[in-house]
Formats: sequence, structure tokens, C-alpha cells
Amino acid sequence: MTILTRDEDLRKIRESGRIVREIFSLAKKIIREGLSTAELDRQIEEVIRSRGAEPAFKGYREYPASICASVNEVVVHGIPSDEVILAEGDIVGIDVGVRKNGYFTDGARTFAVGKISPAANRLVEITRESLSEGIKKAVAGNRVSDISNAIQSVARREGLEEVRTFVGHGIGKRLHESPEVPNWGEKGKGPVLKEGLVLAIEPMVNAGTRNVRILPDGWTAVTTDGKLSAHFEDTVIVGRKKAEIIT
Ligand code: MF3
Ligand code: CO
Repeated sequence: MTILTRDEDLRKIRESGRIVREIFSLAKKIIREGLSTAELDRQIEEVIRSRGAEPAFKGYREYPASICASVNEVVVHGIPSDEVILAEGDIVGIDVGVRKNGYFTDGARTFAVGKISPAANRLVEITRESLSEGIKKAVAGNRVSDISNAIQSVARREGLEEVRTFVGHGIGKRLHESPEVPNWGEKGKGPVLKEGLVLAIEPMVNAGTRNVRILPDGWTAVTTDGKLSAHFEDTVIVGRKKAEIIT
């Protein structure tokens, strides 16, 4: 668990988060039909290193790249590849972790490649909304599952399913810390949130079933029904009245 209240520490972790944000504006600019996810990974790693930071995913449990690039039915942890070429109509989740000043931050966005179907667009926007509703509950005095319930409620209200296989997490001094932040559950359960607690909140929402399976590469998680999945993640600092989003 990382709890930060000193200005000095907050400045340091915000600087880490700013690099994640910068990567998303780069990704938004360069994602287009014909780009391979390996090329995207190379360009992003270069930016991370040029900022005096390190890619937090590379080498984590032997993960081979700096980003996860999860196309269409890939839920999370898609490994960048020269063989995965983005095509018009795809959605691609880009997940990236950065270590700078000793502090880890982690974020994800799902991008459209060219023009996407109305159904894909709706999935992406609802997943984005579920993250922002979750973040609204990241307030001191609430409990972890207040975040979880807010995320699940948005997905269910829209007839979509939240993924349960992966969870959000504490972050800060390490990439993954306690507490776990599930994307489903009843309100009012789990640890009480304290001001300064750093969390990575990361809903994954599926167009069909919530069930996933892992491909033989040991990482790539796909929907079992082959339908689309979207993922958004932000690193936030729990506040007294509202959370501060740093990615
Ligand atoms: N955002 C994901 C997580 O927190 C990505 C981790 S990818 C890994 O689990 F390579 F670092 F495992
Ligand atoms: Co994460």
C-alpha cells in the first residue's frame, strides 16, 4: 500500500503519471490502419526512456514488452507483435506502466482504428464511463467495493458484462500492491480508503460474456465468445472530497 501526502512525493508520482498521459496522446496520434502493435510498442518505449523513466511492464514476470496492445476480442495483456497489424474498424486497448522517481503509474485507453461500428463505439464509451464512475468513489472514508460497485453498475445498466478475472490494484512503490480493486461486488465491503492512497482502477467490459481464457502464450486474455472487449485504467490518488487522476 502506498499512501502519499507529502508534496515532495506527490510531485514525484505526478511526474510519472504525466509520462503515461503523454503516451496516450502519442498513441492517439499514430494509431491508424497498417500500424503493427510491435511498432507502437517500440515508439512508446523510446518516449518512456527519453523521459528518464522505465517501462514498468517489461520484464515483469518475464513480460516481453513495454505496452500491452489488446485488439478487439483481446481483453488485456495482448503482446505487441509485428504480425498484428491494425485494421480499420478495430478497437485496441493500450495499457502502459511507467516507473519514474521510484514511483510506478499505470494506465490504459481503448482507441478506435479509423471508423468503428456503433456497437464498438458504445462499448468503448461505456467502459470509459464505468472508470469515471469508479473514480468518483475513490474518496476517503469510502470502501474499496464502492468503486467496484459503481463500475459494475454502469456495465450492467447497459446490458454489458464486467470482467472478473482481473482486478485493479494498489500501486506506487511497486506496480502491484494491495488492495485489490475488483470491478464488481456489493457496496460497503473491503478496506476503508485513506487520503493519499494510490490506486490503479481498471475496468474491462465485454460486449458478450464476461468469461475469458488465456492463449498458449501465457498472457493474451481473450473473450471466450470472441466478442469485443474494452479496457480503461487510471492511476488515482484518493482525496478527501475527490480523487486526483494522475494518468
Ligand atoms: N495494467 C495491467 C496490470 O496492472 C497490466 C500489467 S501487464 C504486465 O496488471 F506485463 F505488467 F503484467
Ligand atoms: Co494495472
